[in-house]
Amino acid sequence: MGNSGRFITFEGIDGAGKSTQVDALAQLFRGVGRTVLVTREPGGTALAEKIRKLVLHDAMDPLTEALLVFAARRDHLVQLIEPALARGDVVLCDRFTDSSFAYQGGGRGLDLAVLSMLEQWVQGGQAPAGGPMRQPDLTLWFDLSPAQAARRLAAAREPDKFEAQNEAFFARVAQGFLRRVEAHPQRFFRLDADRERALVWADVEAAVRSRGWLE
Ligand code: TMP
Repeated sequence: MGNSGRFITFEGIDGAGKSTQVDALAQLFRGVGRTVLVTREPGGTALAEKIRKLVLHDAMDPLTEALLVFAARRDHLVQLIEPALARGDVVLCDRFTDSSFAYQGGGRGLDLAVLSMLEQWVQGGQAPAGGPMRQPDLTLWFDLSPAQAARRLAAAREPDKFEAQNEAFFARVAQGFLRRVEAHPQRFFRLDADRERALVWADVEAAVRSRGWLE
């Protein structure tokens, strides 16, 4: 059961503490002999990392921002994610399309129908990509209140364009995630991120173990 490719994404507002959990889960999979690709969005390939710099630091309108994150995603899928899954590897991705619905859709107020169209184009399902639409097998959603996230970010490093947004923006982002969870309940696993790291980790491990993916 455990040996086919698995695509696991990590989502949540900035400050939710995803990144350390990504690394811990990679170690756990490697410990049972799996090959793991740890990657992130926007980014993951040389081209997508260039796009990441633009998206995180340059001012632009919401549609431009969405087109860029989906362009980066397309390169990332074609160059890295799909080949890894085809080899049977585990792919752990820090953010994916749910972040576009949360940040560009919820945060920036971009039309969700536009995002759905981009999702289908970029992840398959209809022309020009064709084939079934690629979606994560599991999405770990680090649920943190916008107020708590704001407190954590205030103590953090130099903020990027998104981290510098106010709490009202993050409240809209959080709403954006919630809408996606409601639309795709079977794919999401909610983690209460307002707890110490070890407790959050116990839930991450349980979510993966209960699916039989560590056997
Ligand atoms: P990170 O700080 O978690 O690496 O994420 C980079 C930022 O990019 C984060 O603030 C969320 C934002 N983002 C979007 O706005 N749209 C997207 O589709 C993705 C993947 C990230």
